[in-house]
Amino acid sequence: MSIQDKLEQLKKSFEEGLPKLANMDELLQFKAKFVGKSGGLSEVLKGLKDATPEERPKIGALANQVRDFFEQALSERVRAIEEKEISKKLQSEKIDVTLPGRRKHMGAVHPLVQTQDRIIDIFTRLGFALITGPEVETDFCNFEALNVPADHPARDMQDTLYLKNGSLLRTQTSAMQIRAMLERKPPLRLVMAGAVYRSESVDATHSAMFHQLECLCVDKNVTMEQLKGTLEFFAREMFGAKTKIRLRGSYFPFTEPSVEVDCSCVFCGGKGCKVCKQTGWIEILGAGMVNPAVFEKVGYAPGEYTGFALGMGIERVAMLMHDIHDLRLFYENDVRFLDQFL
Ligand code: DAH
Repeated sequence: MSIQDKLEQLKKSFEEGLPKLANMDELLQFKAKFVGKSGGLSEVLKGLKDATPEERPKIGALANQVRDFFEQALSERVRAIEEKEISKKLQSEKIDVTLPGRRKHMGAVHPLVQTQDRIIDIFTRLGFALITGPEVETDFCNFEALNVPADHPARDMQDTLYLKNGSLLRTQTSAMQIRAMLERKPPLRLVMAGAVYRSESVDATHSAMFHQLECLCVDKNVTMEQLKGTLEFFAREMFGAKTKIRLRGSYFPFTEPSVEVDCSCVFCGGKGCKVCKQTGWIEILGAGMVNPAVFEKVGYAPGEYTGFALGMGIERVAMLMHDIHDLRLFYENDVRFLDQFL
C-alpha cells in the first residue's frame, strides 16, 4: 500500500473513532494513538525514506494536511467534551436558592456572666484591675487572715465544704484579697469575681454554689469618703443615674467599720413597692474599711496603709435587675429562660 493510501486509511479510522470519545482520558489516549511520537502518523511517515525524491514533497504536504486536520479536529473535540463536562457538573451541583436556609442556634452570654461583666466593667473604669484566684483555698486565706477567729460560726462544718487534705472550697471571694496582698505591695486597686461554695440546701434563694464580686483598694490615706464615692458611682452606672445609696452600720470581721449598702429601689425609685417591701431601699452589698488586723496578717506595716473593701452577690444583683425570684433558674440552663437575655 502506498503512503498516500496509508494516510487516507489513517484519516478514515481517525474520523470513525473521534465521535465515539466520551471523555478527556479517552481523548488523550486517542490523540497519542494518532499524532503521538510513536502514533500512527509517525509510523506511516517512517515509509517516507523509501519514496522517490519527486514523491517526497507531495507526501510531506499531504502528511502536514492530515496532521493539521487531526489537530484541529482534536481541539474541537476537546472543546465539546469540556463543555459537556462543565454542563454536567453545573447540573449536578445545581443549588436551589429558593430553599429556606438552616437556622443556626446562636449561643449567648449567660445572664450571670452578663451581670458580672457589667459590674467588672464599671470598676475597671474606676481603675480597679481584674484578678482571679483559686476556688480551692486554704483556711488561712479564706478565714484566718480575714480575721475570722477559729471558733467563728462561719467555719462550722455546716457552712464550709472542706476537702480531705484540710483545704476548703472558698466561701467568699474575700479570700482573693489575702492572696493579692500577700503577693503585692500597695497601692492596690483590685476587682475579683468568681464562684463561692457553702454547705447549703438548695431552694429559691440558696445554693451550694453561687458567685460573688469583690473590690479592694489599699493605699496611703484611703478614706471612707472614697468608699462612698466609689459606691455611688457604681450604683448610678449599674442601676441608673437617679439611684441613691444608703449606708447602714454592720459587722464583718475583715472590715472596721463595716457597712451594709442599700440602693434606692430600682423598680419604684424609692416610693415603695412589692420588690423593696415598701421600704424604698434594696440591700445590695457589704463593705467597709479594711481591718488593721487583716493588714497585720499579710505583713503590711501597721499604720502605714488604709483601705476599703466591698463585696456583693452576683446572683442577687442579677435577680434584682431582671426581677427573677428563683435562683435555681440560673443553673438549670433551660434555653427558654436563657433566650430572654440575648
Ligand atoms: N465576704 C462577705 C460575704 O461573703 C461579703 C463582703 C462584705 C465582702 C464586706 C467584702 C466586704 O469585701 O468589705 O458575705
